[in-house]
Amino acid sequence: MSSSLLPSGLYAERVTDVQHYTDRLFRFRITRPQSLRFRSGEFVMLGLPQDGKPLMRAYSIASPAWDESLEFFSIKVAEGPLTERLQKIQPGDTILLRPKTTGTLVNDALLPGKRLFMLSTGTGIAPFVSLIRDPETYEKFGELILTHTCRSKDELQYGFDSVAATKADPLVGEEATLRLKHFASTTREKSEHNGRITTLIESGEFFTSLNTSAFDPEHDRIMMCGSVGMIKDVRDMLEPQGFTEGSNNHPGNFVVERAFVG
Ligand code: A2P
Repeated sequence: MSSSLLPSGLYAERVTDVQHYTDRLFRFRITRPQSLRFRSGEFVMLGLPQDGKPLMRAYSIASPAWDESLEFFSIKVAEGPLTERLQKIQPGDTILLRPKTTGTLVNDALLPGKRLFMLSTGTGIAPFVSLIRDPETYEKFGELILTHTCRSKDELQYGFDSVAATKADPLVGEEATLRLKHFASTTREKSEHNGRITTLIESGEFFTSLNTSAFDPEHDRIMMCGSVGMIKDVRDMLEPQGFTEGSNNHPGNFVVERAFVG
């Protein structure tokens, strides 16, 4: 038995795999309810069983829409109402899920374009790990550029592992090898690229190191997920250049979502 719908209307799923990356970050996989449908890049409400009404929090699904299981990438917060307990889960434990998924970091909320930039900080990379493994993303955009900025190098590892897995994936691996670029930077420890993504974009270092041209609203589409500050700063940079925010009903040339915080 892998899943069941409880009288409360929540799915009870089983943890199959847990990997701790740092003392602040971990990923986990759970069984997927057969009837759960979602679009790559969406989030779902999840929680842990407890006495009384369970506390549910929004989590981006890091696996693509076609996957048989569901992957999540989470922060650990010592006194976070959910993550304080969630960080201790083990294979075999139960996770509760709401059946409804939603979100704006989906291909439908963007107009087609030549390049798709996916800008993330911290756990904000999760919805992009879903999108880079979806063939639809490669159909809609010519080139995919995923950025991930964290404080330290060990926090970038999930992104490196996910990109490597995508390039080895039988479904999208060939396209990803040709058309997916990964740019990782750190802000509090020296690495190949140093600094906030906003600083690297403004200085031009980001485009130079990818050997590509600066943002252009006609051909480029941008998704952002992560810290509230990063989203605000990139939005303030894009809007004067003529980028307009998209939604599910009105596709535009950029979309944003804040990452789960605790
Ligand atoms: P910084 O170390 O300079 O604060 P966190 O771990 O706090 O969630 O942050 C994840 C990453 O997001 C960090 O590298 C952090 O850089 C970066 N960051 C925080 N605020 C902004 C911002 N306003 N613009 C761009 N990057 C940001």
